Amino acid sequence: ATTRYEAETSPAVCTGTIDSNWTGFSGSGFCNGDNGTGGYAQFTVNASAAGTATLKVRFANGTTTARPANILVNGTTAATVSFEGTGAWNTWATKTLTVPLRAGSNTVRLGPTTSAGLPNVDYLDVETSSGEPQPTG
Ligand code: GCU
Ligand code: CA
Repeated sequence: ATTRYEAETSPAVCTGTIDSNWTGFSGSGFCNGDNGTGGYAQFTVNASAAGTATLKVRFANGTTTARPANILVNGTTAATVSFEGTGAWNTWATKTLTVPLRAGSNTVRLGPTTSAGLPNVDYLDVETSSGEPQPTG
């Protein structure tokens, strides 16, 4: 099943402002992180069982310079994403990655690694496997 977590919806945290001045976002706005390595977006993600999850991050980067970030799951870097320019701030794109989740509540933080900070972040989609044991043999 896939669950959408909007960047503007608590318990998500946006170290920056929730904006809606660029069109095309989902929900009521997006996270405009502060332009620096401290400007993160964090989601609280629930998983019914421990395992690998597929994450899709929707973002816009209206500059021509990539804005790379670490993806920290429960405080540990689990992936890195480049977040290249999308051509305009109202042009959104999606990055897909896989990370491990534990059963229950998890934090997934997009932590920028350059002084430019994050792109604008719209939402995180999380797809977990069904958790149903598969028959063997
Ligand atoms: C512009 C744009 C913001 C964006 C910012 C940035 O100010 O309007 O939406 O977040 O650039 O460079 O991060
Ligand atoms: Ca910004």
